Amino acid sequence: MIYKKNILCIGAGYVGGPTMAMIAAKCPQYKVTVVDINDKRINDWNSDNLPIYEPGLDVLIKTARGRNLFFSTEIEKGIKEADIIFVSVNTPTKNFGQGAGMAADLQYWEKTARQILSNSDKDKIIVEKSTLPVRTAKAMERILNSASGTIKFEVLSNPEFLAEGTAVKDLENPDRVLIGSRETEAGLKARNELVDIYANWVPREKIIESNVWSAELSKLTANAFLAQRVSSINSLSSLCEATEADIEEVAYAIGTDSRIGNKFLKSSVGFGGSCFKKDILNLVYICQSYGLNEVADYWESVVRLNEWQEKRFVLNMLSNMFNTVAGKKIAVLGFAFKADTGDTRESPAIYITMGLLEERALVNVSDPKALVNARVDLKDIKDGIDFIEDPYKAAEGAHAIAVLTEWDIYTKLDYKQIFDSMVKPAFIFDGRNILNHKALFDMGFNVFAIGKAPLKHF
Ligand code: UDX
Ligand code: UDX
Repeated sequence: MIYKKNILCIGAGYVGGPTMAMIAAKCPQYKVTVVDINDKRINDWNSDNLPIYEPGLDVLIKTARGRNLFFSTEIEKGIKEADIIFVSVNTPTKNFGQGAGMAADLQYWEKTARQILSNSDKDKIIVEKSTLPVRTAKAMERILNSASGTIKFEVLSNPEFLAEGTAVKDLENPDRVLIGSRETEAGLKARNELVDIYANWVPREKIIESNVWSAELSKLTANAFLAQRVSSINSLSSLCEATEADIEEVAYAIGTDSRIGNKFLKSSVGFGGSCFKKDILNLVYICQSYGLNEVADYWESVVRLNEWQEKRFVLNMLSNMFNTVAGKKIAVLGFAFKADTGDTRESPAIYITMGLLEERALVNVSDPKALVNARVDLKDIKDGIDFIEDPYKAAEGAHAIAVLTEWDIYTKLDYKQIFDSMVKPAFIFDGRNILNHKALFDMGFNVFAIGKAPLKHF
């Protein structure tokens, strides 16, 4: 098979894997190879048991794998052959030194840039897929062009906006694809090459072109705005609980204003996921480094409010359960940071489980897809915790249920059966507002939802 171009993606994670699968499925004329330093991940991508759960991903992978989509650990060989390299390695929050707890840790990023440099013998386009601080492309260019030679690298920013759980849908039918480049002749030429790839399935008017700095900053900003909406509605949930206003009614009423819009107004136990907190703190750090302290404080409050919302949930459980949960069994239903994913990174469930354990509760953690990750997150905990996939078994003999992920299956359980198997008085704390609270109350539960007046029998 003669391919038009060779595409390589470094980093076979939640972003790299699905994104490359979509490009390969839609563009059979390109050869797409995804490489990773993690052997197990690559083996899993080559098996029937994919390393991440994402609705529709298995079908997509089957369409292209072995045809023009390949997963491999041969990073250097991949780099040599590639014309276009997407870099999708992780950029976690730095946990040491200057900027610890806020700045992005760019060590994998820089290592990858150097690896590209030392294995290249022809011109290449390098595409930033990971979320990065604005002006990272400059550092990338410096490293890539540090060797004297005639090889030219053009660095583009093409941030990924997919959300987990809907990755395949988001990739197939994106709101927009953003491509930033230098506005030089070579930069614009590289930009066009990337536009050509996406134009195989994305309508041309949805492909937005910009300068490279705007593209980098837009990704951070998009996540900051989304997280801000969740923190805004969550900030009002506490006021609703105190005043008997209902947060869902308020969200509906404001969301029908077309200037506000109805998305991302679901009040919850808090936002999680690998991006929101990390990206906002990164934005905060960048603002601070430009001396923009008021701007930094403004965005940091979005993260602080989220932490408070998680803490509030634990305190609410404690105060309503007679100020003690010590020795009481609590079923945590849902550990993933949102439904339809097994991902638990920054999941509110981690914080809440730890909070309950600190109060010496006995926690049964349940989730249909995330228990493997949950065990890793809680690996240091020796006592007081059990992992039970079956929600009925997890709730048996429990004093309380805390629903922390909006999995559809939790809306369909036989709560009468569950109630009968629990210790009385039985409590249910719905951290996602997905249950029928009135029906649960009528069954005998004491019901506490987010942003709603509590329903108690005492
Ligand atoms: C990505 C981006 O990296 C992140 O910046 C963005 O905000 C969200 O999307 P994600 O795909 O979720 O993150 O990360 P992860 O699932 O951790 O995947 C990164 C992969 O890169 C891992 O499989 C890791 O093994 C690999 N990697 C890391 C390399 O192949 N080489 C390295 O040097 C470092
Ligand atoms: C996010 C962005 O949506 C995506 O565009 C970007 O590329 C990566 O970061 P993701 O982290 O996968 O995607 O999930 P998202 O759907 O944005 O949800 C983030 C968190 O906010 C979840 O914990 C979710 O439960 C919570 N959330 C979301 C709410 O609590 N209420 C809402 O109304 C929406």
